[in-house]
Amino acid sequence: MDVTFRIRRYNPEIPGKDKPYWQEFALNNVNETDRVLELLHRVKWEQDGTLAFRRSCSHGICGSDAMRINGRNALACKLLIRDVGEKVQVEPILGLPVEKDLIVDMEPFFDHYRSVMPFFVNDSPLPADGRERLQAPEDQQIFSDSTNCILCACCTTSCPSYWANGHYVGPAAIVQAHRFIFDSRDQAADDRLEKLAEPDGVWRCRTIYNCTPACPRGIEVTRTIGEVKLAIRKGTRDGVIDPKDIKVHS
Ligand code: SF4
Ligand code: F3S
Ligand code: FES
Repeated sequence: MDVTFRIRRYNPEIPGKDKPYWQEFALNNVNETDRVLELLHRVKWEQDGTLAFRRSCSHGICGSDAMRINGRNALACKLLIRDVGEKVQVEPILGLPVEKDLIVDMEPFFDHYRSVMPFFVNDSPLPADGRERLQAPEDQQIFSDSTNCILCACCTTSCPSYWANGHYVGPAAIVQAHRFIFDSRDQAADDRLEKLAEPDGVWRCRTIYNCTPACPRGIEVTRTIGEVKLAIRKGTRDGVIDPKDIKVHS
């Protein structure tokens, strides 16, 4: 089959290309099982070597090739041509500064990520027998979904609240905070909840729900945000959240 790619281009270093513009590329001998990422490679290798985009693993793991494809955020390596049709429009994800073509500056995104303390905190000594800190399977289930996040930014850059205000910490950072807030072995839930209760924290989420269908890992992002909102309302007991307090139905 023949496929046409319409790609948003921008190169601040080349006069005449330093304003965003669209460019079309025709590709033939395309299989319906080809992935969008493979065809971007064909454009780059066969037609225009200056086309710039990020990618690494090609298998939906590294999270580096988030793009807006036919108006929806997705990983280019996970979308097949049969899912998007013969006319494919590709542009950078929204809400972050574009550096070149499909490459955006991810630093504002990672600044929000870093702000929620996305790491395990526990200063108490390890058990005397030298074993690891144990956790019941049902306690692990509470945050299991959040551990699947690959920081691709598909959720945050599909959120209208984030488009309107880049200070909003965004759904990806909240998912990352959720992963540690609800870990029964962690001791910094109160610090994270305090940060997320600030004006640019979870309350900027208006439950618009663009984030959940955008997530390539199938994380229930909106439910996760709801659980953090409830945890802020209910508070913790000595830094520990009672799971009964945060049951949200998505
Ligand atoms: Fe990507 Fe999903 Fe993580 Fe958001 S929650 S950054 S969409 S993997
Ligand atoms: Fe945005 Fe998702 Fe909330 S799209 S407003 S973070 S439910
Ligand atoms: Fe790694 Fe697509 S290239 S997730």
